[in-house]
Amino acid sequence: MSEAMLNNPGLGTYRLKDDVAYQAVTTALALGYRTIDTAQMYDNEAAVGKAIADSPVSREEVFVTTKVWVDQLSREHFRRSVEQSLSRLNMNQVDLLLVHWPAPEGGIPMAEYLGELKAAQEAGLTRHIGVSNFTIAQIDEALSILGPNSLLTNQVEIHPYLPNRKLVEHCQKHDILVTGYMPLAVGRVNDDPVLNAIAENKGVKPAQVALAWIKQRGIITIPSSTRHEHLHSNLAAMDLELTVSESARIDRLGYGLRLANPSFAPAWDLD
Ligand SMILES: NC(=O)c1ccc[n+]([C@@H]2O[C@H](COP(=O)([O-])OP(=O)(O)OC[C@H]3O[C@@H](n4cnc5c(N)ncnc54)[C@H](OP(=O)(O)O)[C@@H]3O)[C@@H](O)[C@H]2O)c1
Repeated sequence: MSEAMLNNPGLGTYRLKDDVAYQAVTTALALGYRTIDTAQMYDNEAAVGKAIADSPVSREEVFVTTKVWVDQLSREHFRRSVEQSLSRLNMNQVDLLLVHWPAPEGGIPMAEYLGELKAAQEAGLTRHIGVSNFTIAQIDEALSILGPNSLLTNQVEIHPYLPNRKLVEHCQKHDILVTGYMPLAVGRVNDDPVLNAIAENKGVKPAQVALAWIKQRGIITIPSSTRHEHLHSNLAAMDLELTVSESARIDRLGYGLRLANPSFAPAWDLD
């Protein structure tokens, strides 16, 4: 499964609402995407679920991820929020359920919400479980609570300006797949001189170079797009191969730029 996910990007759906989300998912599935990433917080689970249901691609072929928002992590709210997600998605089960952010320091204990996450899996509400925005220390704490091989993925911000090397290495050492969000740094890669130079040399686009660099690090990507041309190009990027020297040039672009950094974010690992 990890091989298939590495070779086929997921479709990110953050910011896409209503018909825009419906159309993006519909186009992506028609083009060959088979992983769709949504979240309670994106307010688009209903549109995403409808697009999947209306698609000629069968539900079994699509890997659907949703995420529990930070205000739903307590024992009191967790299960009900997952049931509500499933109801909006019009599904009996998702393929992957993530804790969207670790609870802010001093809030709900990790054992409480990871216990709920595991219970949701045992109840059949999700096939796999995972986390998002967890640091190295939080991954260690999670593994001490749930045991080894319990988490499928840690979904974190990864793009050429934030390589997140230590965290990636730590997750991979523990057989936790890394999913890289905001892989295009929300469009910033398009104007990057180094990525443009590499792209021009290969006859491709800078966004494709960024996605290929992430894939070559063994990281799953979930770029988002509302445009047919971009969705197609992002899929085609999985066939692109970068040389060692091209990858090394991109490695040097990292400077710790964080685009997702809310007030409740954990104490990030430094690269
Ligand atoms: N777990 C978390 O906390 C978390 C946080 C943030 C994001 N995410 C997930 O990660 C996904 C991706 O992140 P993101 O959507 O914020 O940012 P992104 O994928 O890095 O960038 C999306 C932007 O890039 C443009 N774009 C896409 N493909 C392009 C291409 N081939 N050429 C030029 N421009 C292109 C899109 O515009 P067009 O629509 O015009 O193509 C859009 O403006 C999200 O949708 C969400 O599912 C998760």
